[in-house]
Amino acid sequence: MKPVRKAIFPVAGLGTRFLPATKSIPKEMLPIVDKPLIQYAVEEALAAGIDTLIFVTSRKKHSISDHFDRAFELETKLAASGKLELLECITDIIPSNITRAEVSQLETLGLGHAVNCARGLIGDEPFAVLLADDLIKTSGPGCLQQLISQYEQTGQSTIAVQSIAAEESDQYGMIKPSSSDRKVLSIVEKPAPEDAPSQLAVVGRYVLTPEIFPLFDDLGAGSGGEIQLTDAIALLIKEQAVGYCEFSGRRYDCGSKVGFIEATVDYALERPELRGKILHHIRKSLN
Ligand code: G1P
Repeated sequence: MKPVRKAIFPVAGLGTRFLPATKSIPKEMLPIVDKPLIQYAVEEALAAGIDTLIFVTSRKKHSISDHFDRAFELETKLAASGKLELLECITDIIPSNITRAEVSQLETLGLGHAVNCARGLIGDEPFAVLLADDLIKTSGPGCLQQLISQYEQTGQSTIAVQSIAAEESDQYGMIKPSSSDRKVLSIVEKPAPEDAPSQLAVVGRYVLTPEIFPLFDDLGAGSGGEIQLTDAIALLIKEQAVGYCEFSGRRYDCGSKVGFIEATVDYALERPELRGKILHHIRKSLN
């Protein structure tokens, strides 16, 4: 079985749910406390052993590559003023032995289209997909690491799922699970609650086998008029088993304002230097 070494980060979306903030800043650069969402996802991938990071990007997303580049002027200033902790947090976010590549998605035609844009760089290997606006906090191994461990046991594409409220099914890819062997029996993008096959929703972490790529060739627009990754996975299920992983960890939907604020509060409360002040502020505001 080939190891999962490459990860795709689709970052070409328009981020309309966060306008006006995302008019000129990619939504993946919005920070939770002091770190952009994309960096959390990259760190999760690196911790899972990924050595090639592929950003599927578009115009106006230069700040993402800038973020992972060296910033010589800033580094020189921080070094000269002895601010070594700050210096450390901006250098080598991506270690030098890691390959970073960018592919353009010229038109934002959907998540499936974005993943297929990286096809030429993936080749004949299994790969991961991480959606940075799903921020996943775990106490043990990261979510992607959990998926890769399951992939290493089964050799099957594996997608992260979690249980959601029935009325939210129209915001997610929804699966029909075979609980005896953790296989996906069917998958559908954003069904109405009455059509949802279960309450298990797809979260933005996937390990996929390369056999998914040819399935994009004849894939038309699906839900929302977009080329959906979910629809390609539905075709893949007809050819080979696809597993699901009910990962352990808390997922924040940072594509929504409520999820973004929940993450901000929780991550801030975990920081000893912020916790007391934030709690004090919340108590004061509630009174
Ligand atoms: C995408 C996927 C969907 C998945 C979701 C998880 O949807 O298409 O299947 O459940 O991410 O965050 P989006 O939120 O980009 O509309």
